[in-house]
Amino acid sequence: MTYEEALTYLTAHGQQHLLRYYPTLTPAQQEHLLEQISNLHLERPQFQNREAAAQQRGHFAPLGAVTLEQIAEKADEYRRIGLQAIRDAKVGAVLLAGGQGSRLGFDHPKGMYNMGKTRDLYIFECLIHNLKKVTDEAEAYVPLMIMTSEQNDAETRAFLKEHDYFGYSADNVHFFKQETEPAVDENGKIFLNAPDQIVLSPNGNGGWFSSMQRAGLLQTIEEIGLEWLNVFAVDNVLQQIADPVFIGATIASGCASGGKVVSKADPDERVGVLCLEDNKPSIVEYYEMTEEMRTLRNEDGSLAYRFGVILNYLFRVDALMHTLGSDFPLHIAHKKISHLNEAGELVKPEEPNGYKFETLVLDMVHMQDSCLAFEVDRSKEFAPVKNAVGVDSVETARALLEQNGVVL
Ligand code: UTP
Repeated sequence: MTYEEALTYLTAHGQQHLLRYYPTLTPAQQEHLLEQISNLHLERPQFQNREAAAQQRGHFAPLGAVTLEQIAEKADEYRRIGLQAIRDAKVGAVLLAGGQGSRLGFDHPKGMYNMGKTRDLYIFECLIHNLKKVTDEAEAYVPLMIMTSEQNDAETRAFLKEHDYFGYSADNVHFFKQETEPAVDENGKIFLNAPDQIVLSPNGNGGWFSSMQRAGLLQTIEEIGLEWLNVFAVDNVLQQIADPVFIGATIASGCASGGKVVSKADPDERVGVLCLEDNKPSIVEYYEMTEEMRTLRNEDGSLAYRFGVILNYLFRVDALMHTLGSDFPLHIAHKKISHLNEAGELVKPEEPNGYKFETLVLDMVHMQDSCLAFEVDRSKEFAPVKNAVGVDSVETARALLEQNGVVL
């Protein structure tokens, strides 16, 4: 793209300020900036009009889960099926670690956060420890694919290498980077954070499978013969990965996917709920639920929309292939975004000052024909580290780790 082409393109979309510093840049910097501009895709409706990104939702209906009691009755059978699938090299794990963890306010990849009090215990270490419990029992490795972002890739790789992958086999660890989207201010103008650098942030956790494709990992999946991928978030320190009982139950159910869920403590708890939308599995966010949906009860008195998701899903690889090339909705997140101000100084805001565009893994659930909701005990499997203090924080997650016998 030439300067003239960039100017015409940006002017057509009201973003010509991105060329403000162009005359002062070195030829290499100019080229760098033009390259970023050529990758912007500003013609998408979300960049024209933020409201256009709001999704039209269909008709919601409750979806039941296999409950803790039902799972306990068949746990041995499910475990046997799941362990066999792992031994047959049918199961891979995908760690979503490309987020920015802005609420935690930690300047490194979230997995590097030290949960220990008297010793070092990093989040990555907690997760790999949980995965190793399964692979030791199965006596077979589960390939672990780690999604990083442009910003945290090098640091994540170096950290895991330095710690010898916390005892996992390096040959079974694969990294891939997710894509980026530009961030905009409250008026829809794209931010710069250096004269030749557009603010590009990770594009959300929904694009993991297409990013794996771009990184060439689908070939690896095919070569190994993986049939299931267990996708999970970095920030739940009690996350059970490649759980054989979950794998076995999902395989036995014949569903195309499975999602671990926890029973909501009360109707107003702020979690997304696994349900049906136009007869397909879907997740309705707490703020999208009407009062009637929130309080609707089954005959036995339990909440009808009861099962909250914890970002731990199983997807069948052949069903995922059908999602490639699909248009994921772009969600808008109000965030704190460092940027150059009018005077050309770098500003680090204390409050959200702009918007990022993200695809979400929950939209991938809606692309599946079926999903087994699999209930787990939240006190054993759900300790999210989202905030520095308060709800879902380092403190609450530490307490849950200790409750589960982990020495900190
Ligand atoms: P969150 O939605 O909590 O986002 O991620 P975040 O970026 O980590 O944190 P905040 O909102 O800025 O505080 C849920 C999971 O999805 C991953 C995160 O790493 C986490 O495992 N994620 C999120 C990605 O891999 N990429 C993204 O672009 C966003």
